[in-house]
Amino acid sequence: MEYRGYDSAGVAILDGAGQTAVERKAGRLSNLEAELDDIGRDTFTGTSGMGHTRWATHGRPTDRNAHPHRDVSGAVSVVHNGIIENFAPLRAELEAAGVEFSSDTDTEAAVHLVARAYADGPTAGDFVASALSVLQRLDGAFTLVFTHSDHPDTIVAARRSTPLVVGVGEGEMFVGSDVAAFIEHTRNAVELGQDQVVVITSAGYDIMNFDGTSAEGRPFRIDWDLAAAEKGGHDYFMLKEIQEQPTAVADTLLGHFTGGKIVLDEQRLSDQELRDVDKVFVVACGSAYHSGLLAKYAIEHWTRLPVEVELASEFRYRDPVLDRSTLVVAISQSGETADTLEAVRHAKEQKARVLAVCNTNGAQIPREADAVLYTRAGPEIGVASTKAFLAQVTANFLVGLALAQARGTKYPDEVAREYADLEAMPALVERVLESVEPVRALARELASSPTVLFLGRHVGYPVALEGALKLKELAYMHAEGFAAGELKHGPIALIEDGLPVIVVMPSPKGRAVLHSKLLSNIREIQARGARTVVIAEEGDEAVRPFADHLIEIPAAPTLFQPLLSTVPLQVFAAEVAQTRGYDVDKPRNLAKSVTVE
Ligand code: F6R
Repeated sequence: MEYRGYDSAGVAILDGAGQTAVERKAGRLSNLEAELDDIGRDTFTGTSGMGHTRWATHGRPTDRNAHPHRDVSGAVSVVHNGIIENFAPLRAELEAAGVEFSSDTDTEAAVHLVARAYADGPTAGDFVASALSVLQRLDGAFTLVFTHSDHPDTIVAARRSTPLVVGVGEGEMFVGSDVAAFIEHTRNAVELGQDQVVVITSAGYDIMNFDGTSAEGRPFRIDWDLAAAEKGGHDYFMLKEIQEQPTAVADTLLGHFTGGKIVLDEQRLSDQELRDVDKVFVVACGSAYHSGLLAKYAIEHWTRLPVEVELASEFRYRDPVLDRSTLVVAISQSGETADTLEAVRHAKEQKARVLAVCNTNGAQIPREADAVLYTRAGPEIGVASTKAFLAQVTANFLVGLALAQARGTKYPDEVAREYADLEAMPALVERVLESVEPVRALARELASSPTVLFLGRHVGYPVALEGALKLKELAYMHAEGFAAGELKHGPIALIEDGLPVIVVMPSPKGRAVLHSKLLSNIREIQARGARTVVIAEEGDEAVRPFADHLIEIPAAPTLFQPLLSTVPLQVFAAEVAQTRGYDVDKPRNLAKSVTVE
């Protein structure tokens, strides 16, 4: 399962005689394997157990934060994917009762709670009932798997909003977050529904709801091979990652609005220091930089703070004006990009405060930052950023709202309303994904075009830049993104008969002036022979006559529209690349993490 996350790994094996052997190791799976060899693999012998590869959300990727976690007695073990949103009060409750935590994770609260429910009270001595009673207390999104040393023949696994599949073998049973975990052993699987629990024994499985009432899973047969299973049945990881975007956006929001307030993941800055911010710089590279361009619109609009967005590689070489009331927002999926890291270091030398938006817990950039907001896109394997980009855009909105909240430029109910609008976005992204088939067909048609231009205004402009970047890096096709208003200052000279131009239209219900200006731009290029591909809001009838191809997206608040309009552009680039016969996961000359300047 290493492809799902690889910052640490661990195993717990029940020996059947009342003991559980656990080993955990930060770093790649090979570190754990070496450790098991050192200890002697016979120590890890039994007929039930579990393994986990971690992609950190709460707590750095260290040995002590790696899963499985155990209760104080060592009898109960747990592995967990997802986020337990109410872990803080649960942890406080346990600590008040004298439980000592041995990690910084949200997960550990769950294992102590199960151990206590098993030790005492109405569920005492009943492992399954103890686990059920705890599941009912958890908020958030989670897949949890519990074992108990005294019940080596039983594994309890549960899911809410994150995946869990059962593998039904002959005389052996499996649970995994993905069929890839057991595809080499069985092809008979059962999918669990929302808020369901499965109890497996060597004899079979039993599915129930969190309240213990009986439930049904969905049995299915796996006909993929292992490589396809890892990619969720897609030809490439990137295509799977495009599909995962509703979850990436939803997970990034999760846990960041609690008690009526936007909360960051790490804040080593006081509220006063946040209030004192009088200027914001956003620094990043590539797609992350495009997400930063989008941040500017939101932060300036919500906070009235001036925001400058700058390529990290340019930032530190031009002596930017920074001081202790400057906030530098560094955006990086990997958290290791050398240009961004050096920009952060330069900012800190000048006494500026740094807030990192990062997808990789424990990476260098968040470690050196004063505050961190993690995007929770999960590991992104395709080199070209897709789900991490959408998660960055989402996280940047949260940063904007956090600043507005700290500065009082938005009332709490306004922050809550913006957050509620953001929460509605994953379902809209899903709708866009459901309707992209015509985009694929168009991409195949345009795949031999020598060049494609992208136009946008306001938040549509960074989307145009991102669309062009995706096409360049995946399909090796010449592509340029322009602010539509700039067209007549030069680029319009490029327009010739049949040239495809993709235009990102703003909502007609938003700023009317933006819409009408862009309409004029489309007219200008269509009159000069361009083949117009227009991404517009459903019901935008005014644009229809000027669109040779119309791609409709659902209506959304103006600032949030990029979360929708980017998606067809990713699909377009991926399909052009595939039609041209390229590997979309590994574009030539590119690396996932650029650790040299
Ligand atoms: C483009 C892409 C790159 C990255 C850039 C920054 O698809 O993936 O442009 O966005 O290299 O990487 P991070 O976010 O890791 O700093």
